Amino acid sequence: MKYFIAVDHAGIQIKAYVKEFFLKKGHEVIDLGTNTNDRVDYPDFANKLCKELINNEGSRGILICGTGLGMSMAANKFKGIRAALCHNEYSATMAISHNNANVLCLGERVSGLGMIHSIINAWDSAKFQEGRHTQRVKKIDKLYMSCN
Ligand code: RB5
Repeated sequence: MKYFIAVDHAGIQIKAYVKEFFLKKGHEVIDLGTNTNDRVDYPDFANKLCKELINNEGSRGILICGTGLGMSMAANKFKGIRAALCHNEYSATMAISHNNANVLCLGERVSGLGMIHSIINAWDSAKFQEGRHTQRVKKIDKLYMSCN
């Protein structure tokens, strides 16, 4: 699967670890930055990543900031983006199996490296269950449309 990854300055420590994990699992990983400790604004990176996802059907994204909150709030503004902020493996599994999430948001200042590993491993192993969940996910997109 094609993955895009983007982080702000508060997500830079774990970016390399997360990239390496997905590469080792056989995925393509495209790094959209940031690449230094200089302060940047997380919405700019969420914006960049979501536009790539919309232009690359079937791809997935990973957004990392200090808490994962700002990235998830920004990403969920985009139609077709279902960004899930996960702090544990159960949430990561359910984000895929029930919600068919296409963006994983992580908080580097919240989750330690051991938990980050468990989260990304659970996310990578999960499968969308379809069935009754399909219509619920479709309803998410309709909610977006009814606001515009
Ligand atoms: C940056 O200081 C921090 O606010 C950002 O990384 C993120 O946690 C925002 O939600």
